[in-house]
Amino acid sequence: MSRKRQYFAFIFLATSILFIGFAFPYFASVASSVFKQHDAHVDIIEPILGETSPGDIIQPILGEISPGDIIHPILGETSRPDLDLTHPKIEVSFPTTSIPHGAHVNGFTIFDNLYLRNGTFFAVSLDPSTFPPKEAILSAPLDLGVPSKELLPTDKHLRYIDLEEAVQLLGHNPLHIDDMTVIIYDTKTFLRHYYHWWGEVILGFWRVYSMINEPGPLPFPSRFMLPVVEEGQWRDRADINGPLLRAMNPSVSIETSGQWNDFIKLNRTIAFKRVGIVNRAAAHRHSEAGKYNKMIGPTMGLEIFSGYWKPLQTKLTQNLLGESSESPQDITRETATTVKSKPVVIYISRQKTGRRLADKDHEALVHSLLKLQDEGFCKVEIPVMENLSVKEQIELVSRSTIMVGVHGNGLTHQLWMPSSSWSTVIEIFFPGGYLFDYQFLSRSAEHQHYAVWNDTSFTTAEAPKSNLDAEGMHGSEIPVYGPTVVDIIRQRLATLSSST
Ligand SMILES: *[C@@H]1O[C@H](CO)[C@@H](O)[C@H](O)[C@H]1NC(C)=O
Ligand SMILES: *[C@@H]1O[C@H](CO)[C@@H](O)[C@H](O)[C@H]1NC(C)=O
Ligand SMILES: *[C@@H]1O[C@H](CO)[C@@H](O)[C@H](O)[C@H]1NC(C)=O
Ligand SMILES: *[C@@H]1O[C@H](CO)[C@@H](O)[C@H](O)[C@H]1NC(C)=O
Repeated sequence: MSRKRQYFAFIFLATSILFIGFAFPYFASVASSVFKQHDAHVDIIEPILGETSPGDIIQPILGEISPGDIIHPILGETSRPDLDLTHPKIEVSFPTTSIPHGAHVNGFTIFDNLYLRNGTFFAVSLDPSTFPPKEAILSAPLDLGVPSKELLPTDKHLRYIDLEEAVQLLGHNPLHIDDMTVIIYDTKTFLRHYYHWWGEVILGFWRVYSMINEPGPLPFPSRFMLPVVEEGQWRDRADINGPLLRAMNPSVSIETSGQWNDFIKLNRTIAFKRVGIVNRAAAHRHSEAGKYNKMIGPTMGLEIFSGYWKPLQTKLTQNLLGESSESPQDITRETATTVKSKPVVIYISRQKTGRRLADKDHEALVHSLLKLQDEGFCKVEIPVMENLSVKEQIELVSRSTIMVGVHGNGLTHQLWMPSSSWSTVIEIFFPGGYLFDYQFLSRSAEHQHYAVWNDTSFTTAEAPKSNLDAEGMHGSEIPVYGPTVVDIIRQRLATLSSST
């Protein structure tokens, strides 16, 4: 070693000794204060691990959390070996799964305390045999066309387990989602459509959800989860689904496969306090779905209290139109003396689409309707819906009493038409063809439904079998005899005009 090197080595050693000498007391005091801080809140951490339930309010820790913040137990996160991770009280906080008030039909099920881990649902019960068969609840989330065997649910989709298995498979400390969630366990195929989204998924869910007889209004879901749908793939072409959902609940979130996969990557158990699971193929396994060829067929047999849809209708129109708008509810009061304005008949034209009336029949129908208006009987609206904003469309519908249109998506708007003794939907089909879509909506939203085959008409009670394949059903030459439609309107509004 050269002299120079020896010199530098000495300087380095001396500096180090000096540094340690001065700095140690400082580090020691910092370390002990950190340690003290830890000590100080051990008492607070322990109750979080062992005894608090989700939603409990914990006192502020380390000054970073303000009073009132809600802390959820994060057991796995601690690196303190002295904490007892197998505290026996933890197991008690593992509520079993149930179907509240029996709220289930094929394809639509409400669960309390359902668990999700690694993309698999777990229902925990002392007696798992009490749950409905899995295939009545869900299917593999695939398109309906695949062989029905592939659609059958497996242990990857849903498992029924007992408490012992729950502790093994789910761990002790789930992450909690406490507000109402709906999981639409389906592909995008039937979601990108106003009717399928609102008229089947949400309406069907709401019918089953309404079986829950608890005090106070049922909260609208805070969250819709679409596990196998990509961002935006659920939106309909006219882009009505999204805005209407926000109008119903401005804080709603619609989560797609990305968020679902986030949960998988967490490698933690998610506990849903209350969740609705909707699945199309499971609905179609029910005989009532087959009979009507409709996903919501099984929900139509449920006994649901009258007016169950009204709160959604009111909420949506209030939120969308604002309180200052003309009250759309005048006509719904059963005492017709309070009706301030003439009833509105809305004809939703499909003349710009494929499935439409023969042009001359459309013109003759418009003529007949305008003649009725001239008689002072009613006000007639014939909007070009494609040219109106969502808000303008709903505003028109919310003050209508009678809706006329060819079988099609536009008739989904009847969900926002107020129900009354006069409210009516007149659906025009190619003679011989019939589908239950909008008749089910009329029954749900509580309107009288008439089907028209050119110059004949019939009500729900006389409905034939579903017939999708009548020749001309989806063509551009659907006939209608205007006076037949006008006669129904006259007949329906007769009681209204005689009582004013
Ligand atoms: C999680 O799910 C994937 C995909 O189904 C599977 O391959 C994997 O084994 C699962 N992991 C665990 C820990 O269950
Ligand atoms: C997930 O956690 C389990 C234990 O709970 C562990 O066995 C497994 O390896 C973990 N998987 C991943 C992908 O981290
Ligand atoms: C509807 O919009 C289209 C395209 O913007 C326009 O050509 C048409 O004149 C509009 N129709 C009405 C009745 O406003
Ligand atoms: C529709 O009914 C009218 C009135 O009865 C009739 O004149 C017309 O021929 C019918 N149209 C079709 C296509 O049957």
